[in-house]
Amino acid sequence: MTFGLLTACYVAASILFILSLGGLSNQETARRGNIYGIVGMAIAIAATILWLPPEALAYIAPAMIVGALIGVVVALKVEMTQMPQLVAILHSFVGLAAVLVGLNSHISPPNFTGAEKIIHEVEIFLGVFIGAITFTGSIIAFGKLQGAISGKPLTLPFRHGLNGIAIIACLVLGYLFLTQDHTVAMICLLVMTGIAFVVGAHLVMAIGGADMPVVVSMLNSYSGWAAAATGFMLGNDLLIVVGALVGSSGAILSYIMCRAMNRHFVSVILGGFGTSGGTAAVTEGGEVIATTVEETAALLDDAQSVVIVPGYGMAVAQAQQTVSEITNKLRAKKVNVRFAIHPVAGRLPGHMNVLLAEARVPYDIVLEMDEINDDFPETDVVLVIGANDIVNPGAQEDPNSPIAGMPVLEVWKAKTAIVSKRSMATGYAGVDNPLFYKENTRMLFGDAKESFDAVLKALAD
Ligand code: TAP
Repeated sequence: MTFGLLTACYVAASILFILSLGGLSNQETARRGNIYGIVGMAIAIAATILWLPPEALAYIAPAMIVGALIGVVVALKVEMTQMPQLVAILHSFVGLAAVLVGLNSHISPPNFTGAEKIIHEVEIFLGVFIGAITFTGSIIAFGKLQGAISGKPLTLPFRHGLNGIAIIACLVLGYLFLTQDHTVAMICLLVMTGIAFVVGAHLVMAIGGADMPVVVSMLNSYSGWAAAATGFMLGNDLLIVVGALVGSSGAILSYIMCRAMNRHFVSVILGGFGTSGGTAAVTEGGEVIATTVEETAALLDDAQSVVIVPGYGMAVAQAQQTVSEITNKLRAKKVNVRFAIHPVAGRLPGHMNVLLAEARVPYDIVLEMDEINDDFPETDVVLVIGANDIVNPGAQEDPNSPIAGMPVLEVWKAKTAIVSKRSMATGYAGVDNPLFYKENTRMLFGDAKESFDAVLKALAD
């Protein structure tokens, strides 16, 4: 392959990646966006392989075959509810790759001199630093999302000071790396790598469960910058472009997530907020009114307008197909049925949209929080299906609540809110939910799929 053809392929792949990101920003075009991404990646890989000297293929082909096989097995096995963990662990691979490429670039440097040499060494140092933080940060995020590590923030005494000392140490090591001979520079690079590993782990350990949505998108951004740094080290323009696209789109997503949770990006990064999830509720004094499948079906039969609020529990129960069938049945009776999607519902951005698209719920009745929040007072029945934190009125009413200020779906303003969940347990943020004790709330206890299968049967034809 000629250099010109390689460049043309890289430009085509870059354009396809930009079109892919554009497509993924909207449910109706997401499928097309995915196809652009797949075609772009296929062109990028094919062009890179054809550009390599044939003897390099002997090393690369087995690695690619093994990697592709592992990828296929994992993708087929992973449950939708485990996607955030998968994404976190994939980010860690990008970080580790940046570290290894950086160390290798220093061990066998290209023949650069003068300013070019200094720029290359800065690229190595920065790439290894970002990569190391991404690597351990992603592994801790994986552990937290998997439940292997507690969601509670680790708040060491003097932790901001410790992070500050680590950053200053890295800056000093960076100066020595640039000014000392090759062996001393290698030692500085390795020591900095160790420090960055600790900083990455410490940064994410300090972030509590409630802020994990931002952590996932933030690590997505870091992995992009790590890939861009690798691109600089290897002199690969496509990797720089792709890394910058992932880095900046991850940063924008982190910003959107922060806004959705009414949190400041810097305070999320510095951590110390949020608690572990899944503990029993502690509020006492209110009365919880349980309801039945028959009563739920009767309320739906009489309703003119229904809003469905899906949450993480719907993904766990895999109730989306049943919910879609209930929607069709109600719409056939001219009931106005709509879905309300909170930006951090579930465990990853767009989680609910993916489930609803899979169950073929029409896009035009799936609305964002801002589009539907004012409509609850005119809604007859709200079905809260496996959602908890995103419908917690405590976020508005209790200034001491750990989620105080987070915008929520105001389902308690509807005539009746039916909450489907298995118990009185808290959601991911570990915060008690006063919604369950409101006069117009009815609790439909049980697995969401079993409950709504029965509701579907009980609905009048
Ligand atoms: P959660 O607040 O986590 O509540 C989910 C509820 O589903 C739980 O209270 C649980 O109660 C119920 N549930 C679990 N399995 C169920 C089943 N089989 N059938 C019926 N109900 C079931 O979920 P949410 O309201 O979607 O809020 C999302 C939370 O996750 C937020 O705190 C958000 O910050 C966090 N988070 C979001 C993301 C992203 S990017 N979206 C990433 C990480 C964390 P029972 O146990 O009583 O059934």
